[in-house]
Amino acid sequence: MTKILHLTCSPRGAESHSAALSTAIAQRLIAARPGATHSLRDLGAAPPDGIDGPYASALVAGQAETGFSSPALDRSAAAIAELVAADMLVIGTPMHNFTVPAALKAWIDLVVRPFHTFAPGANGKVALLCDKPVFVAIASGGYFHGEGAAQPDFLTPYLSAALGCIGLRSVHFLPLQHTARARASDLEQQTHALLDRVDDILGHMEA
Ligand SMILES: Cc1cc2nc3c(=O)[nH]c(=O)nc-3n(C[C@H](O)[C@H](O)[C@H](O)COP(=O)(O)O)c2cc1C
Repeated sequence: MTKILHLTCSPRGAESHSAALSTAIAQRLIAARPGATHSLRDLGAAPPDGIDGPYASALVAGQAETGFSSPALDRSAAAIAELVAADMLVIGTPMHNFTVPAALKAWIDLVVRPFHTFAPGANGKVALLCDKPVFVAIASGGYFHGEGAAQPDFLTPYLSAALGCIGLRSVHFLPLQHTARARASDLEQQTHALLDRVDDILGHMEA
């Protein structure tokens, strides 16, 4: 049975384009994997509390971290367990100031953790998690990707690096762009094209 973990990161609730697109993507995955389970974490509505002092000290202490305890360390253990248990990850995120919103960054700070999800190595970080498909629905007010991109993109390279260093390398970015000014019909057209891409990706995974 496929377990889908779905994170939404916009504070805009029902108005959110990234939440709506990621929900449509999750529905495609569920349709393709009968019996799949779906756990939704609305990080936009309830952003994870940030890291605390013991958490930061434990990370610096490395393998000696066993002497530390704190709410952030507990939150981290729970978030990592939930991520490890998932077979697929769906993220719905807005672009905020060229990158991920603070709520998603807070989640990343909890799950990218030495000796739990990666190990420091002589030549850099060594991933400790198994790869799994990650679908990232991005909503941006302007264009950051493809023809007409008019701003820097620190979101996709950042997420690729942060998720890649723990082992999640099959990351598929699905950008819904120009939400600030596009007509509803244009957003609908973009959404259809992105969902077709999801079907293609699923087709290749099953082949
Ligand atoms: C704080 C903030 C920063 C933003 N920064 C950017 C940006 O850097 N680039 C961009 O294209 N749009 C930016 N936007 C617009 C959002 O990306 C756009 O409204 C998007 O649809 C939000 O996603 P959502 O509908 O899922 O909330 C920003 C919006 C906010 C509130």
